[in-house]
Amino acid sequence: MGEHGSRNENHARPLSAPQRDARQPPPPPSDARVVGATAGAGPAPGPDDIVVLRNVKKVFNEQEVLKGIDLIAKRKETVVIIGGSGAGKTTLLRLIVALDRPTSGQILVDGEDTSGLSDRELNRVRMKFGMVYQYAALLDSISVLDNVAFPLVEHTKLSKKEIKERVMDKLQILGLDPKLVAPKFPSELSGGMRKRVGLARALMLEPPILVYDEPTSGLDPPTSRLVDDLIEEMRERFNVTSIVISHDIASCFRIAHQAVLLIQGRVEASGPPDALLEGNSEVAREFIRNSGVDVRGLSRVTEHDRKTPIR
Ligand SMILES: Nc1ncnc2c1ncn2[C@@H]1O[C@H](COP(=O)(O)OP(=O)(O)OP(=O)(O)O)[C@@H](O)[C@H]1O
Ligand SMILES: [Mg+2]
Repeated sequence: MGEHGSRNENHARPLSAPQRDARQPPPPPSDARVVGATAGAGPAPGPDDIVVLRNVKKVFNEQEVLKGIDLIAKRKETVVIIGGSGAGKTTLLRLIVALDRPTSGQILVDGEDTSGLSDRELNRVRMKFGMVYQYAALLDSISVLDNVAFPLVEHTKLSKKEIKERVMDKLQILGLDPKLVAPKFPSELSGGMRKRVGLARALMLEPPILVYDEPTSGLDPPTSRLVDDLIEEMRERFNVTSIVISHDIASCFRIAHQAVLLIQGRVEASGPPDALLEGNSEVAREFIRNSGVDVRGLSRVTEHDRKTPIR
């Protein structure tokens, strides 16, 4: 606990994040969408930086829930956001997928600054994300076919026949028997099947980014592992970037290229999960130890191929 009080602001800044020399004045906004007052202007994101957050803050009423978040999600990698209840994880996810706007700071999606966008333009940004909710969040009163077809009905002008073909295709790709599953109601499916149906729906518009809020919450360990495998499979098959919120440290170690530990609205530590165990944040080490999970050997990113240094 000795280091507990020694945390300083530098710890909360990812080493991989673009950093500007504080002595230099910020560059003038070259893009009309960059709004001066709120944008933490910085260098353009690299081609692999699909989601970039710079000094993002969110205030609800008087409460500052997010206190200056810097985060970069790389293309085709998995970022897992961990942290205790009330840390601001869901709030952060809602900002990332443009369901809500930050109070200040900058969010870039696929190179585009979303801060100055109109609601209509934000809709276009939202289409880049497929959302997978806890317990799959399927509508129980309509069939699997209609559930999975929903994004296409909402956002495309495809014919009924084309939509059905695409739905059947996706169900098949996700390892479900389309003829058997499509006419069923969600309540008639097992938990694992519901997850797959939820994924099929999230993938319908072929988004480059999939986001998951607590995908393994409430599941037993074997089913959690299946969901982890599914997240990994989606990444490999569809080349998607995954952003996952999780309470599940074992799952975090299995799937994350980058783990981000959120404590009371701040990034306490980020980097490959095994590096959080050895990093300079005592809070992060303790958070992992307190989970009671034996994380040795779980991490996908080894010392050898680690690219992002821990802070
Ligand atoms: N729309 C809102 N209006 C007011 N306060 C909110 C709103 N959304 C979230 N908050 C507050 O922000 C804080 C963080 O909430 P959030 O749901 O992001 O936490 P979380 O990390 O996802 O927690 P959990 O692990 O329990 O899901 C909480 O104190 C919550 O009450
Ligand atoms: Mg939450």
